[in-house]
Amino acid sequence: MSYKIVDYSKEYESIMQFGKNKNVYIHRWYPFVEGYSKEFILKIIDEYKKTYKCESIVCLEPFAGSGTTPLELQNMGHLCYSFEVSPFMYDLARCKMETSYTMKSFDKYVAQLEDYFFNPESYSEEKIQTKFKTLVEHEGIDKWLLDREVRLGILDILEGIKKFYSKKYQRLFKVALASILLDVSNVYRNGKCVSYKKNWKTDVNYSRKDVHNIYLKRIDNIFRADLLQMQKIKNKGKLFSNGIYCYCGDCRKLIFEKIPDKSVDLVITSPPYLNSRDYTDTYMVELKTLGYMEDLCEIKGLREKTLRSHVQVKWGELETLKIDELQQAIASIEKFKEKFWNPELLDMIRGYFLDINTLFKGLSKKMSLNGMVFINIANSAYYNVEIKVDEIVCKIAENNGFNIVEIREARRVRTSSQQKGISEGLRESVIVIKNNNIEN
Ligand SMILES: C[S@@+](CC[C@H](N)C(=O)[O-])C[C@H]1O[C@@H](n2cnc3c(N)ncnc32)[C@H](O)[C@@H]1O
Repeated sequence: MSYKIVDYSKEYESIMQFGKNKNVYIHRWYPFVEGYSKEFILKIIDEYKKTYKCESIVCLEPFAGSGTTPLELQNMGHLCYSFEVSPFMYDLARCKMETSYTMKSFDKYVAQLEDYFFNPESYSEEKIQTKFKTLVEHEGIDKWLLDREVRLGILDILEGIKKFYSKKYQRLFKVALASILLDVSNVYRNGKCVSYKKNWKTDVNYSRKDVHNIYLKRIDNIFRADLLQMQKIKNKGKLFSNGIYCYCGDCRKLIFEKIPDKSVDLVITSPPYLNSRDYTDTYMVELKTLGYMEDLCEIKGLREKTLRSHVQVKWGELETLKIDELQQAIASIEKFKEKFWNPELLDMIRGYFLDINTLFKGLSKKMSLNGMVFINIANSAYYNVEIKVDEIVCKIAENNGFNIVEIREARRVRTSSQQKGISEGLRESVIVIKNNNIEN
């Protein structure tokens, strides 16, 4: 190993989580547990500027999520390309990067909604129900995510938004609705998917009007307050936006299509971890309720476009990258084949690193000489066999012509039920990589 693994817990431990963004201007529009904080971005930019003494930096975030990276970079005036495969996450990231909102239009649309809530249309049963059987309460099922009254309140908001003339405000008001969705539903997010709230049948009982009021309150307290602040900042000068550089789709393809060769100086990113969690499942309520996904076929289509970090798709027989650490881990896990909780497990692991390899192929084409990559990743374990994801990613980067500066251990993460047995927890790290690839 030509690089060191260094303890960075003092510097990174408290800023690797989204929690710090909870009360921060715009970042707070939607809580995204899988994200990191804006301080993480600030720290990296500070370090990069000290090293390279440059004022303008072209950046890339292949896995935008809630948009923390491109948003914070635009606040500092840096251009950042970004990609996000989930249409919901894309809307979230995109609306946070918009800087052309005006208070006049915002207030006009709020008034338009209030008007509509006063006398909403009555919806057909076909509209109230969806193709997803357990989304809305109806006869013949004993569990549902949304009570009928709640669904009506949500439909009023969605129909009201549909009447807006401007797409940009439609997106903003839809994200505001997403931010109250779990509060008014019967479920909470449990990390992997959703679970029913305690006593949800008896205790959680919102009326259609309650839903309108909770929504309008959120709009006023959070969104209006932040747009007022944006207006004040704009009064001092024009605001830059990374919105037009944000694309909805699969970064494994888009990286080759949307970015000029040798143009990227800095990549800051956090891909999905190799923990068999599927973001399509975790954000299912938003995808299904807000009209992003109409049926199971569309859900399958989205899953197929995501990084292969989960077992929800049959990935088929895949090759294993020729990296010793990976081949050994796969051979050790294969010994437990009889006990596998899902037959796709090994192909998920193979596919994950094939995807990371594709990403680095793209990066080697698109990054400038001496460009830097900061990639936040966590190790993984199945059947007590640890997969040193960070070290394997380092090998992949090296094979694509990059130099590893160091692996920075940010913290130890708890192991999930499928990963029991790794008592000290799994390393979550930030890999620092440099592009020395003169031939790119
Ligand atoms: C760990 S999250 C990123 C969090 C982000 N750094 C933040 O602070 O919000 C990973 C994101 O990658 C997205 N994703 C998964 N596969 C993708 C793909 N093939 N192309 C683009 N985005 C993808 C997921 O939908 C998820 O939003």
